[in-house]
Amino acid sequence: MNGTTVTTLGTEIAPETDRVAVDGRPVRPGVDFVYLLMNKPPGILVSLEDPHHPRTVLDLLNGLERRVFPVGRLDLDTSGVLLLTDDGDLTFRLCHPRHGVLKTYLARVQGVPDGEDLRALSEGVDLDGRRTAPARVQVERKDTEGALLRITVHEGRKRQIKRMCREVGHPVKALERVAFGGLTAAGLRPGEWRYLTPDEVVRLKRMVGLET
Ligand code: URA
Repeated sequence: MNGTTVTTLGTEIAPETDRVAVDGRPVRPGVDFVYLLMNKPPGILVSLEDPHHPRTVLDLLNGLERRVFPVGRLDLDTSGVLLLTDDGDLTFRLCHPRHGVLKTYLARVQGVPDGEDLRALSEGVDLDGRRTAPARVQVERKDTEGALLRITVHEGRKRQIKRMCREVGHPVKALERVAFGGLTAAGLRPGEWRYLTPDEVVRLKRMVGLET
């Protein structure tokens, strides 16, 4: 604050006159939020509440002094794009099915799905008695072991991609989320993260009906 590091919890500021920065970036407390994009490695937990698992995504946010929360879930063994923020309203909207934010996954599946399997995946399969919404499904590669599918969904049901693929007889061997709301982890190695740019934040907000 005003050029010095503050370590006392509950330090009061005068919003009109004090200059506040977090990790070198100016913020307006109570007005600004932080928005991060991480390339989540497999084996790191997204849920912050499991005391039995030693490493969560928060452990990868070295030096970040703000408390942020993941936007939705990725399974322990899933890798790829994960947003984290302290903006609860945006998080709620990005996760709400009404806004249909697109999520794209690369799923390495066992066996090669035939035309009927692919049609079922894209038109909808039954999960817990409710059909999944239409998805975009493309075969990226095939080999003797299986196939690599690119699947884009706008729902976010629990373990959706794994359950959809299992339902058509092709269990997922490895899963990576390659895009969330158009954002990718390009340039980030597994475990690395970066701040979203102001333009990216504006785009996300517009996507879910928030005026900026
Ligand atoms: N679908 C899954 O099955 N797992 C994930 O982690 C994300 C989407």
